[in-house]
Amino acid sequence: MNIFSEILAELNRESRLRSIPHTPPDNLLDLSSNDYLSLGERWHEFTEEFNDRFPDAAFSSSASRLLSARQRHHEQLEDYLAQLYGRPALLFNSGYHANVGCVGALTLPSALFVCDKLIHASIVDGLRIAGSQFKRFPHNDIGRLRILLEKEATHHDLIVVVVESIYSMDGDMAPLRELVELKRSYPNLLLYVDEAHAFGVRGEKGLGLAEELGVLPDIDFLIGTFGKAAASAGAFVVTSHEGKDFLVNRARPFIFSTALPPVNAAWSHLMTEKITMMGEERKRLQRLSAHFRGEVERISGTPSASQSQIIPFLTGSPEKALALASRLREAGFIALAIRRPTVPPGGDRIRFSLGADMSPEIIEPLFITLEEAAHEI
Ligand SMILES: Cc1ncc(COP(=O)(O)O)c(C=O)c1O
Repeated sequence: MNIFSEILAELNRESRLRSIPHTPPDNLLDLSSNDYLSLGERWHEFTEEFNDRFPDAAFSSSASRLLSARQRHHEQLEDYLAQLYGRPALLFNSGYHANVGCVGALTLPSALFVCDKLIHASIVDGLRIAGSQFKRFPHNDIGRLRILLEKEATHHDLIVVVVESIYSMDGDMAPLRELVELKRSYPNLLLYVDEAHAFGVRGEKGLGLAEELGVLPDIDFLIGTFGKAAASAGAFVVTSHEGKDFLVNRARPFIFSTALPPVNAAWSHLMTEKITMMGEERKRLQRLSAHFRGEVERISGTPSASQSQIIPFLTGSPEKALALASRLREAGFIALAIRRPTVPPGGDRIRFSLGADMSPEIIEPLFITLEEAAHEI
């Protein structure tokens, strides 16, 4: 259709046309996926244990959780998560479903969402779909958040402050302790924290940044995803008993979508068990990230915002991001260009995403290419 090709041509002119990358040859090092503990690379090591432990996990649940007879593995996983987090957990089919569902459910007539400017698209979509009232505060700016709350809090029965614990594109952290402190001044305030990029990676047992900072009980809705460090698929929400019952009754993606296959819930269960014991891998990942960040800062000549395994290299234009990605690929590294609308205008970048099993020696040549290419493009 003409109208489609015009839009696609325009995206192409602006260097913003997206396409699905082909599976790359095995000899390239993938720095674009979110396989932070390198569990996704090692999955075959666990298949025997999986088959022994979960021989009866079926490949379809054949109905939504509210109708399905086949959900023993979902319940077992929720029980295990509840044991780890000390509060009930509810599974969702993906992080996208979880955010759209929870935001939708919490959109009560008198609720106001107060969101960090850089929250994930799935939360933004949740707000839009539900027609929620929302305001945004500048990224990680607690001062501006405080001003907003002073102005708005008394006009609403419910205020939901929404942040990511580790931001997906900048790799920096939300000031969770300050947020928890702020919450104490507002009895009608709920804290909603998306830990998609911290689950598996932060905290002694890998439960996320809230665990690391000792504020788990203060987070009212904590979102974790299984598709990143946990090398599986799906997501969960940790909340109160009432909160869980409320979501079961009100979160539309939970109610109106076929539940994850039991085999998937069982795999997430096994992977989560592994995660709790991967303290060494977490330390290794932190060391690698610190070195990588230092090199990126040296080459770019600017301090990096990153405080994690996600490290951006800003290029300032989509053309430069594409050119840099292609140079890196020639040198053996898959590190894809991130452009608008995933990041704000001018925030075009290469997003490097590290894994615990990446060898520092194999990564070293990347810095040479990055330095050469950054001066040439
Ligand atoms: C912060 C954040 N939340 C949620 C999601 C969605 O999770 P999922 O991929 O499981 O749908 C993502 C995925 O990229 C994310 O980065």
